[in-house]
Amino acid sequence: MSFPPSTELPRFPAGFLWGAATSAYQVEGAAAEDGRTASIWDTFCRTPGKVFQGHTGEVAVDHYHRFREDVRLMAELGLTAYRFSVAWPRVQPTGHGPGVQLGLDFYRRLADELLAAGITPVATLYHWDLPQELESAGGWPERATAERFAEYAALVGEALGDRVGHWTTLNEPWCSAFLGYGSGVHAPGRTDPVAALRAAHHLNLGHGLAVTALRGVLPGAARLSVALNLHAVRPLTPSAADRDAARRIDAVGNRVFLGPMLEGFYPEDLLADTAHLTDWSFVRDGDPKEIHQPLDWLGVNYYTPTVVSATAEGATPAREDGHGGGTASPWPGADRVGFHRAPGERTAMGWAVDPSGLHQLLTDLARRHPDLPLMVTENGAAYVDEPDADGAFDDPERAAYIHAHLAAVHRARADGADVRGYFTWSLLDNFEWAYGYAKRFGLVHVDFPTQTRTPKSSAGWYARVARTGELHPPVAP
Ligand code: FCB
Repeated sequence: MSFPPSTELPRFPAGFLWGAATSAYQVEGAAAEDGRTASIWDTFCRTPGKVFQGHTGEVAVDHYHRFREDVRLMAELGLTAYRFSVAWPRVQPTGHGPGVQLGLDFYRRLADELLAAGITPVATLYHWDLPQELESAGGWPERATAERFAEYAALVGEALGDRVGHWTTLNEPWCSAFLGYGSGVHAPGRTDPVAALRAAHHLNLGHGLAVTALRGVLPGAARLSVALNLHAVRPLTPSAADRDAARRIDAVGNRVFLGPMLEGFYPEDLLADTAHLTDWSFVRDGDPKEIHQPLDWLGVNYYTPTVVSATAEGATPAREDGHGGGTASPWPGADRVGFHRAPGERTAMGWAVDPSGLHQLLTDLARRHPDLPLMVTENGAAYVDEPDADGAFDDPERAAYIHAHLAAVHRARADGADVRGYFTWSLLDNFEWAYGYAKRFGLVHVDFPTQTRTPKSSAGWYARVARTGELHPPVAP
């Protein structure tokens, strides 16, 4: 195998964070241990027909018990950062009151193990596992949930602030609001467009209140962020109607969060597009200001572009938005917008491989918010990984996917985007929400019945890139 001389390879600066990401419900298991109670995902998984073959995160990949082995794997992969999430129902089971020390101890031990291995811990406070008790009281459509989230954030910040320097409030609030309460393909499975918009606002508010609460308890050097799954929206054709469809999806997909969080207001066009559903009177005076807190970096999760068109009178809009089926739409106020698969190669999720969408998002953000450092907090691909005769997993498609997206990050940096790190989704194969264990995103294969971890060939390649900071091609040219 021959590689070009390393001086010709795209290079990332020293200190660039090379990471992998997971989330609590997808990897931890230990669902009923040490005081953890049910989250909305435990309930959803038990509801017939919601998750592929009735799979649950009860055991997941047993990270709760195997985190030491998993940190060793990360060290072997040359990772310099690990993005994990804290399970709210593990550390504050009812969503109220004092923290559960046994639950907090798990994250203390995890952070200590990471620090000892020279790996920067990056903690996300909410990756979709709302305590069921808060959902039973109304969930994210209710303002009280935002207030509870800020209290929980302070509690975790106090417990881990001496060890964890990088914090993310919410992961992909778009999914929480619009897949959780709009299309219902995610927990809690409601299908009510107004509830979805109310949830979006209270997630925004929860973010703002949590940032304020965290600033009160964390050391000054702590770096706070939010991770958004921004949609790289493209009109199917250059027609005015398709461009308006793209504007509409940009509003309810991206600017519904970017507006209040980064600019302090909801976009006028979003309010107009959804005026037939709600007058947004759940937004109280002062809320946009509360939401608009200075951030130290922004996390961008990206997998595939979003191609949209206006739908002709009488025709049924195409629904290939990559966000699962369901009869209800996750796009309030956009009933006439059609969603199309972008052309080209696809992953096992059916998502088109198109790194230009990542470049587009990063450079657009850099133009609009030149002083806000960025990190790619999720990017990766599911493929069908089969062992060869020796039990090894060769996954050149995954390495090619990550390579192409890292090249896009490198180009975006050259074009002025201040991207400070990249986290591939995911470290390990894990519980992929409504798809259960049927979709594998890991650099490391997990044999679910035995919990055996086997790094795939993509892991070896990624380790080389992380160690050298050079974007080596995954296969010899
Ligand atoms: C993202 C989620 C993450 C994972 C990937 C594939 O939307 O944040 O948990 O499921 O998709």
